[in-house]
Amino acid sequence: MPVRIRCIVSDTRSCLDVQRMARQHRGMSALLLTGIGRLVTMDDDLGVIEDAQIFLRNGVVEWIGQGAEEPPINPGEVVEGMDCGGRAVLPGLVDAHTHLVFGGDRSDEFARRSAGESYETIAKAGGGIQSTVRATRLASEEELYQSASRRLDAMCQRGVTTVEVKSGYGLDLETELKMLRVIRRLADAHPMHIVSTFLGAHTVPSEYLGKRERYLDIVCEEMLPQVAEEGLATFCDVFCEEGVFTIGESRRVLERAMGLGLAAKVHGEQLHRTGATQLAVELGAVSVDHLERADDSDIRSLADHGETTAVLLPGATLFLGWDVWAPARALLDAGVTVALATDCNPGSCMCDDLPLITTLACTRLGMSPAEALRAVTRGGAHAVGCGDTRGRLAIGYAADVCVLDVAREDQLPYRFGRVAPYAVICGGVVVTGPGMLAPHAHGMKV
Ligand code: NIG
Ligand code: FE
Repeated sequence: MPVRIRCIVSDTRSCLDVQRMARQHRGMSALLLTGIGRLVTMDDDLGVIEDAQIFLRNGVVEWIGQGAEEPPINPGEVVEGMDCGGRAVLPGLVDAHTHLVFGGDRSDEFARRSAGESYETIAKAGGGIQSTVRATRLASEEELYQSASRRLDAMCQRGVTTVEVKSGYGLDLETELKMLRVIRRLADAHPMHIVSTFLGAHTVPSEYLGKRERYLDIVCEEMLPQVAEEGLATFCDVFCEEGVFTIGESRRVLERAMGLGLAAKVHGEQLHRTGATQLAVELGAVSVDHLERADDSDIRSLADHGETTAVLLPGATLFLGWDVWAPARALLDAGVTVALATDCNPGSCMCDDLPLITTLACTRLGMSPAEALRAVTRGGAHAVGCGDTRGRLAIGYAADVCVLDVAREDQLPYRFGRVAPYAVICGGVVVTGPGMLAPHAHGMKV
């Protein structure tokens, strides 16, 4: 029986078609990638296989072969094919820390910072997170959905297939739920894999200044139970920082969340060293994020316990105009799992470009290109609790793939934001690829 391989290279599909297909075909598609110059599997270091093929079926990696080996295609099975023409192929990238649902814009604060004002002074004067809270409360669910969808599409066009998205610009029950429902809608509609995090403890909202205990009661006894009951988040995060939430307050929120079945994440050691890393380790948090001010004892704790991934966000360091970079080298040398993420948000890092973050990691954090690539794939997957199913190209892993438009993977950090993928595949479906129209070419806001 002849094998039917339909070549999709010249297909012209809209993003809407792809989204429909991705929904219909979730778990029911077969795609064979041939002519792969370098298949970067992320097994042991980069795990490169040259002259490779990869067969994706029913949303997972089914087979990896070399040269002219025969893939296990069933007689009569319809399989789509893509000749990669010698290009490098990576696991789809994982952006493990974003705040991409928000209203408004903080370009005014960016200008003030460029004139010398600090992030903290602006926040104390009522700007910062509180300013985005005001705009997010005013925005409709539909407006938040549309703007976040556009940011997600932009990320996908850069090779990202898994994104973590946080709430935390509502800070009241109604708006936190509105944000989390937007994240759920995005997860249902978009072919990318979306992971949701509740961040009700992002800061004390201005109406509760002087009544912080009352706000924490609301987070723990009103918001978290409802979030857990509706299954709106996998993780609970806290901004543990001087002048924001103390170690004791952060512990209270995270322990309550864990009691309700959410796993913990922590924003820690960003502006000051507070001991947030020790708390994260003690609670078995999936990640501790930022770490610009982490010290040797924090690095040792992470290395000794090994469960908590260090998520580094050099885009925020750059955007805030600081010169205090997270101790990536010491973390890696101590054997800590490291992830890199954008922190995409309107205040401290208005950037949705994860490949660009790999360049910063090499130039400012002392990471090698190979370490940076691992940190945006395998490391990122660990940071969002998906290390067993995503971030690698191995049998049984998700069929999330990024085909670069270059022959070598190290061009991604090297070319400084200039390597666009040739194709991006989410769950075995080609979401952006040769001959396809960009989503906005249809006037469609997705
Ligand atoms: O990760 N550090 C706290 N939260 C965000 C910034 C949020 C904002 O400024 O809007 C961060 O950098
Ligand atoms: Fe953040």
